[in-house]
Amino acid sequence: MTRHFLRDDDLSPVEQDEVLTLAAQLAGDRFGHQPLAGPQTVAVIFDKSSTRTRISFAVGIADLGGVPLIIDAQTSQLGRGEPIADTARVLDRQVAAIVWRTAGQTRIEEMAGASKVPVINALTDEFHPCQILADLMTVRQHKGKTAGLKLAYLGDGANNMSHSYLLGGATAGMHVAIGSPAEYQPDPAILAKAVEIAATTGGSVSWTDDASEAVSGADVVATDTWVSMGQETEAVEREAPFVPYAVTEQLIAKADADAIVLHCLPAYRGKEIDAAVLDGPQSVVWDEAENRLHAQKALLSWLLARNFSS
Ligand code: CP
Ligand code: NVA
Repeated sequence: MTRHFLRDDDLSPVEQDEVLTLAAQLAGDRFGHQPLAGPQTVAVIFDKSSTRTRISFAVGIADLGGVPLIIDAQTSQLGRGEPIADTARVLDRQVAAIVWRTAGQTRIEEMAGASKVPVINALTDEFHPCQILADLMTVRQHKGKTAGLKLAYLGDGANNMSHSYLLGGATAGMHVAIGSPAEYQPDPAILAKAVEIAATTGGSVSWTDDASEAVSGADVVATDTWVSMGQETEAVEREAPFVPYAVTEQLIAKADADAIVLHCLPAYRGKEIDAAVLDGPQSVVWDEAENRLHAQKALLSWLLARNFSS
């Protein structure tokens, strides 16, 4: 059966560890591992804007000896309504994997359901699992481990980053604390799934509307935009409720003194995070952005090895 990576819990704790371990190896030996030599092609499709994901997949596929085929969905028939499954059937006879950034999770599930090659979620409205692999790799680099550490995420508890921190963080054995307004809480089904995973890894998950409580004693503090792609018309109403969750120097002072700060980027200084924090000594966001490259190369390699051997 073809393995896909559509959400964070598609990797078991052991498998996530394998991918993160390989990512660290690849970071130290960028061109020494070329499973796509041939070269094979990987399709990377964007229904939404991207800087980091587009660059890191294009560079990473080339590093692995392959050819990236970057497709702007608006210029393809997919963007004109050709069925997702038909697109998958055309692609999977020619490419080694399909990477897709789209809106609804059901869309990428449909692509995976029709594809014989691995499908990778490059962000949906519900999850951003490639980002969390890079974030966990960054935590390992700076803290030496993930298990047992407290990760506080402040901001939109109902967005893709919050959901992926819940599932991916629980898989990594972290104590994930979400701090968000009550009207922007995580999806209860995803929270419940994270609780279930945490029970097997020694981690935990929690939600609170008290930003100070969420960040208290945290080893890792993370945030994200208050207005995700596709929510632009809600920009005004998405301002006031989130102000108490802004990652300011005052809020960061409640975390562990050695806490590191993550942000998937793009960041809006003065909104969800102060410039003094994003550009300050606790911020590791540029390592985090670089680690998209290494983590995604590891993920692609891992999935391809699984599918070739099955
Ligand atoms: N963090 C992230 O996914 O960035 P892009 O939207 O620029 O790809
Ligand atoms: N939550 C953000 C993440 C951007 C990388 C969005 O979906 O726009």
